[in-house]
Amino acid sequence: DADADLRPRPPVVTIMGHVDHGKTSLLDALRGTDVVRGEAGGITQHIGAYQVTLKDKSKITFLDTPGHEAFTAMRARGADVTDIVVLVVAADDGLMPQTIEAINHTKAAGKPMIVAINKIDKHDANAQRVRERLLEHDVQVEAMGGETQDVEVSALKKTGLDELIEKIQLQAELMELKANPDRDAEGSVIEAKLDKGRGPVATVLVTRGTLKVGDVFVVGAESGKVRALVDDKGRQLKKADPSMPVEVLGISGTPSAGDQLQVVENESRAREVAEYRQGV
Ligand code: GTP
Ligand code: NA
Ligand code: MG
Repeated sequence: DADADLRPRPPVVTIMGHVDHGKTSLLDALRGTDVVRGEAGGITQHIGAYQVTLKDKSKITFLDTPGHEAFTAMRARGADVTDIVVLVVAADDGLMPQTIEAINHTKAAGKPMIVAINKIDKHDANAQRVRERLLEHDVQVEAMGGETQDVEVSALKKTGLDELIEKIQLQAELMELKANPDRDAEGSVIEAKLDKGRGPVATVLVTRGTLKVGDVFVVGAESGKVRALVDDKGRQLKKADPSMPVEVLGISGTPSAGDQLQVVENESRAREVAEYRQGV
């Protein structure tokens, strides 16, 4: 895309960290800051990918990962779509194997990292100890003379959330994230399932272009025509912009996490590409 076609897009933030350090709880707390959520009539389902609209109307997309498969999860579900990693470390537990794996993987992927020191409400929380242990793994937070941003939070008590959001926004501003919304959409499958009532459903993060109802597409070795787009609040949309996670209905079969979705000109072209990919 030519530079002139590029428009600012929201950052895609992947939450990583050890099992039970509070990734999902933190995301739930962050969703509480969403000014749009109230209008939507509650949360319909947990899709592990959602977009928060802040008071200033800016947006942040969050991807959750389960601690026990942090490495593979980020690689398969968010590898190239992640802009910023938020590393969640429980202040009582400190650095654990999946924390270290997440640090190493984030560094290898060259992604900027913000450390959220969670569970700061606990009586045995020790944030300083976390900062010292991070240093042993070459993560130098500001208080230790480095440049990595860290913030003390409690997902339970909902403290530190505004500061975390500010740090994410600052990091995102530095990155000048852009995409061209005026082209055929491309996206990445975050997760997919076969739903009893609705058939194959894929949660797709739109990376370029705008995905619209009626668009014909190829995704992995499957093809389809967008029958419906549903956001993380359960609302039916007509279109999804860059950085937006959205459930896509109307797929021939169930794709896999990490598969790429591409809008194509017509259904025969879609079938042709899908069949080629299936090796038919
Ligand atoms: P996995 O997805 O299994 O890796 O876990 P997770 O990192 O998503 O952790 P989850 O949000 O499921 O929280 C694990 C436990 O920690 C739950 O019992 C939470 O209630 C608790 N917890 C999360 N955040 C906090 C916090 O800030 N303070 C306290 N005291 N407990 C918390
Ligand atoms: Na858990
Ligand atoms: Mg979780």
